[in-house]
Amino acid sequence: MYRAVNEIDMGTDLEKVLVSKEDIEAKLVELAAEIDRDYAGRDLLIVGVLKGAVMVMADLARALSSNVTMDWMAVSSYGAGTKSSGVVRILKDLDTDIAGRHVLIVEDIIDSGLTLSWLISNLGSRGPASLEVCTLLRKPEAAKVEIDVKYTGFDIPNEFVVGYGLDYAEKYRNLPFVGTLAPHVYGG
Ligand code: IMP
Ligand code: MG
Repeated sequence: MYRAVNEIDMGTDLEKVLVSKEDIEAKLVELAAEIDRDYAGRDLLIVGVLKGAVMVMADLARALSSNVTMDWMAVSSYGAGTKSSGVVRILKDLDTDIAGRHVLIVEDIIDSGLTLSWLISNLGSRGPASLEVCTLLRKPEAAKVEIDVKYTGFDIPNEFVVGYGLDYAEKYRNLPFVGTLAPHVYGG
């Protein structure tokens, strides 16, 4: 067994753990059971949005008891600073033609929802048999657009979080939990 970064290693950079490793694992097992049930007898393609969804994809996929295929997209949202603008550019498109396929988009977090809303209409225009969304985290108070999310892990407060795929300036993605950072990390 390996030894992941823990709260103590984080020292004063960590403000608090919001969702523990154990809670994430238990939730993904629950979601996977729902997905298994909902897609029974159908071929499912899960699409991960790079880079944040890497951890969720890896752990969710391994909790599924049916075979799925996996593909990846990378998108970047134009806009000033850290705020999403809703104007999206594809950095890496799917390798797969999704026409007639059952597609499940897997996301790390839905903040404003602008990126995902664009992605849903983009993938939707390619003629999938079905298109649904699974996200580990969602910030309901930050929503700028309503998105119909079929599988949600945790609703969290409107705070910037890191870990389990989520970064601040490309750091902290490898934390096994989701947490908030102390203000001094942001230079505050
Ligand atoms: P949205 O378009 O505002 O929903 O933001 C989408 C993307 O912004 C997410 O897929 C994340 O990559 C990033 N993001 C949003 N909130 C956070 C956060 O709290 N921590 C780290 N990344 C975030
Ligand atoms: Mg993302």
